[in-house]
Amino acid sequence: MIPVLKSLPEDRSRMTCRRLLTKVPALAIFLVVSAACTHSTPQTQQRMPPRTQDRPLQDRIKSGERSERETWQKPDEVVQALALKNGDVVADIGAGSGYFSRRFAGAVAPDGKVYAVDVAADVLGYLQQEAEKEGLRNLVTIVSQEDDPLLPRDAVDLVFFCDTTHHIANRTDFYRRMLPGLKQHSRLAIIDYPPGGDHAPHPPEQLVPRSQVISEAGEAGFKLVDEFRFLPRQYFLVFERR
Ligand SMILES: C[S@@+](CC[C@H](N)C(=O)[O-])C[C@H]1O[C@@H](n2cnc3c(N)ncnc32)[C@H](O)[C@@H]1O
Repeated sequence: MIPVLKSLPEDRSRMTCRRLLTKVPALAIFLVVSAACTHSTPQTQQRMPPRTQDRPLQDRIKSGERSERETWQKPDEVVQALALKNGDVVADIGAGSGYFSRRFAGAVAPDGKVYAVDVAADVLGYLQQEAEKEGLRNLVTIVSQEDDPLLPRDAVDLVFFCDTTHHIANRTDFYRRMLPGLKQHSRLAIIDYPPGGDHAPHPPEQLVPRSQVISEAGEAGFKLVDEFRFLPRQYFLVFERR
């Protein structure tokens, strides 16, 4: 009697173990599925990222101009892909330190012009100094508003955004506000990080998926006409004004 009584709790614990083991596959599947759901990429931007312009100026310059960037940002290939010519007018929205603006200025010289547009006056001050040092006389800075790039009327052939769309709220309205500044057959080029990429600078919910960019640009009257796939970290879309 005594040995039987002693073995009872052990049997019960073995049974509990066996029951648990039969449940393990279901438990594992549940955990994997719920983890996948938690980390799934959102279909639209859910939240705005922290404002770039709130970071110290020197950090922003260092980050924009870091030499390592060239290996994956491929700025010369980007400029070449856009097939700019002498006389073209480019608006670089969210120009920052002018990583692209300065290259555009060279590509459209001597008769073309670049409007380097940004909400942050301090970084544009830096860019102006650099442009003077480099002798770029066709680069003009515009301190813009959060919801309006303040472009001159009927002036621009190409509007360019790099790593900026995810910082702009109400993008469709913003694109519509650009329209008076654009010439009739103008283009819009957008480079940005897809949510969830290995090198994305913000969490997925703070970035704008490629499909959302296309639908918002479409709502504002732009049709996707080209897409370049040579940038390893970002999408690169080109639209034409309809
Ligand atoms: C990540 S930086 C990109 C800078 C630059 N395009 C580059 O590729 O090096 C984003 C820039 O967008 C500017 N910005 C943020 N919101 C903006 C807005 N609503 N209109 C224009 N510029 C904006 C910021 O001040 C910042 O300089």
